[in-house]
Order: sequence, then C-alpha cells, then structure tokens
Amino acid sequence: MSVVAFGPGRVNLIGEHTDYNGGLSLPFAISAGVTVTATPLPGDAIEAVAADHGERDRFPLAGARRAGGWRAFVRGAAAELTAAGHALAPVRLEISGDVPEGSGLSSSAALEVALCLALLGREPGDRIALAQLCSRIESDWVGAETGLLDQIAALLGRAGHALRIDFATLAVEPVPLRTGDWRLVTLGSGEAHSHAGSGYNARRRECAQACARLGVAALSDADPAAAARLPEPLDRRARHVLEENARVDAAVAALRDDDLPALGRLLDASHASLRDLYDASTPAVEATVRRLKAAGAAGARMVGGGFGGHVLALLAPGASPPDGAVTVEPGPGGHLL
Ligand code: GLA
Repeated sequence: MSVVAFGPGRVNLIGEHTDYNGGLSLPFAISAGVTVTATPLPGDAIEAVAADHGERDRFPLAGARRAGGWRAFVRGAAAELTAAGHALAPVRLEISGDVPEGSGLSSSAALEVALCLALLGREPGDRIALAQLCSRIESDWVGAETGLLDQIAALLGRAGHALRIDFATLAVEPVPLRTGDWRLVTLGSGEAHSHAGSGYNARRRECAQACARLGVAALSDADPAAAARLPEPLDRRARHVLEENARVDAAVAALRDDDLPALGRLLDASHASLRDLYDASTPAVEATVRRLKAAGAAGARMVGGGFGGHVLALLAPGASPPDGAVTVEPGPGGHLL
C-alpha cells in the first residue's frame, strides 16, 4: 500500500538569523509544500522520481553514495533514518511540490520532512528529534549549514498559530496568529538564492568568530556592550542578533494585544536590520519591499536566509497587494495524508 506524506514550506514572521545563534524566531508552516508518495518495491533499492525535474534516482538501501541536487536530499534522508536505527523498506518515491526552490520559503525543509515521513510510513514519535535529523540531511548531505528554524516550523507547525521557538532550549510555544481583516502576503523578488553558495555560510562563520572573541557559546548570550566593541562587521552582526531576539518577543506581545500596526513596525525594523547590520539584502529584494510598501504594507521584510528569495508583508484592510503576491496563513506541520 502506498503512503503519502506532506511537508509544508514555512514563513518566518520575525526572528531571522537567530536560530544558529541560540536566539528566538516566530515562524509558521504554510499550505504550499512538498508531497512524497512511497510505494513498496521488490528488491533492495530505493527509487525516486522528481516529477518537477523530470529526473530519477536509484540507490541501494544498504548505503547510498553522495549525489548532488535533489538527489542529495533523498539519499541523505534514507541514510540518516537508517543511521538513527529505522529499518527502511525498499520503496519508490514520487516527489512533487509547489514551493519555489530558492524562494526563502524553505522548499528544502518541506522536502526533507515529506521524504522522512514517507520513508518512515508512520507518525514520527519525537518531532524535535526528527527536525534535528532533517537538519543533518541538509548539513551533511546537501552542504548547507542551516539552523533548525525551517525543520521545526515544517514539523511542529499548527493551523492558526505561529511558533515561538527558543533555540537555546528548543522550547516551542504556539502563539495564536490572529490577523482579522489584515493579511500577510509573500512576494517573490525574482532572485533565487542557494544557501550552500550564498553569503549564508559566510554569516555563520562571522557569528562563530564573534562568539570566539566574546567567549560565549552562542551570540544570543553576548553582553550588548561587549558586542558593540567587536571589530566591524562582527559588531553589526551581533547587534542584529541581539535586537532581533528582542523583536521576536515584542512581536509575540503585539499579537497577544491584537496590535497589528505594531507588528508591521517590527517587520520593517527587522528588514532594516537585515539590510544594514547583517548585509543580507540585494537590489531585487529592496525593490520588492518598495513595491509592497507602495501598495500600503504596514510592514515588509525579507524572509529566510536573505540574499534573494521572498518578501513578507503585512497589509492593512483595504490595501491591495501587488500582482504576484500570495496570501499566506498558518497551517499544520508535516503529516501523512
Ligand atoms: C535559512 C536557514 C534557517 C535560518 C534562516 C535565517 O532559512 O535554513 O536555518 O537560519 O535562513 O533566519
């Protein structure tokens, strides 16, 4: 019998580049995602078909060699699940999805989650442990040293809620995301990013350097005054992380108080910080933010790693979104259909 699994993409409301710094984020899972159908096969191999790429793969269940592109995710998922003690059955995996790759909406986590759930063929016990496993696929097989933001959002997402994630403890608190007559939209910048190749890994190295100089395990533990004395650009990277953490809790408070104008101002402040302190913006992203602001957005910010990808905006009632903008709402985390 076939098993069908769905892994959602995610939007991060606020709290960017904080996950690998032991900080705070507030993402939610969205309805766009990746679907993987697993059908039992005779033999001892896994076959995979990427419908959107018109490509195939086949590798032995007992041990897959490295491969590039989408194949790295499939081989990594099978290998990491096996290494974690799961006895996998030979299957044919059919993969299709509607999260644009390199969009900042985490097509990667959507794929990892859908693949793992399809290969497991059952509800996972510990979703945080599975998020950590998915993150190993990304770091050890795909070559992108990402944090846990995307995988936790894609696995623990809850309809109607954002998730306040504390990456120091991995505590996850669902926060009702009530937008009333307002709405959240995303708009592509037209520029794809690739984590493995973009400035993302460079920023991670800078944060590690800043931690080493400050003698802290994670940048979120840094003393703001000491962080301000770091050499340029490490001082700006640290300031972004510390202030972004504070903005996450300010956003949680704004949501609790149904103060959407305040949430809009926090989105703008997050974007300005990512642009000016973290140097993660591009001309295409800036143009996209300007289009959304011109359409009346109360706040707009790049989502995900930056260096391209999508922009998220909060629109007040009556504002009409620019062509191509898509309304996003918080949906459930990865599940079997
Ligand atoms: C990407 C990574 C995440 C996170 C964000 C930035 O989406 O995959 O782990 O670091 O960038 O917040």
